Amino acid sequence: MIRSILMITALSLGISAAMAQSDPIATRKETMKQVGRANAEVAKISKGEAPFKLETIQAALKTIQDASKAMPNLFPDNSKTGGDTTALPKVWETKADFNARWEKMGKDAIAASAKIVDEASFKVAYGEVTSNCGGCHEGYRQKR
Ligand code: HEC
Repeated sequence: MIRSILMITALSLGISAAMAQSDPIATRKETMKQVGRANAEVAKISKGEAPFKLETIQAALKTIQDASKAMPNLFPDNSKTGGDTTALPKVWETKADFNARWEKMGKDAIAASAKIVDEASFKVAYGEVTSNCGGCHEGYRQKR
């Protein structure tokens, strides 16, 4: 409980280096969960299950940008196993490619954030960001 409160605080303040070092697996899983939750809110809008709301979309893009910056630092060599991680060994084998994927998603989120001003632009530009998710999970994350 205390740990999860600390983690939420750390995430909302931007992940502190100390926190990330003390439990990088939990921190990266929580960071990805936040991205997943933000993205699920946007998916509701895409499917017409929620009304179009620019704020929700811009907030999700910000969450994705922040995660893209934080994630490359959350895979130290001593975090290959344990903590119920689903990261595959390939993360450490081809680290440069893995890190380049985060950088690309971050850049795509910044670009989409500038482009999306209404529902029409949302429909065109948001998918450019989420196409990064599956591409990385495909090679770097265990299927469950
Ligand atoms: C550059 C690679 C990469 C990108 C891009 C990426 N992910 Fe992930 N994601 C991972 C890895 C690696 C894990 C497994 C982390 C672990 O278990 O240690 C993961 C785990 C997750 C999880 C499970 C978290 C948990 O443990 O419960 C969710 C949800 C998720 N990602 C959503 C997303 C969404 C949504 C996007 C796109 C907006 C995205 N990811 C983009 C690499 C990526």
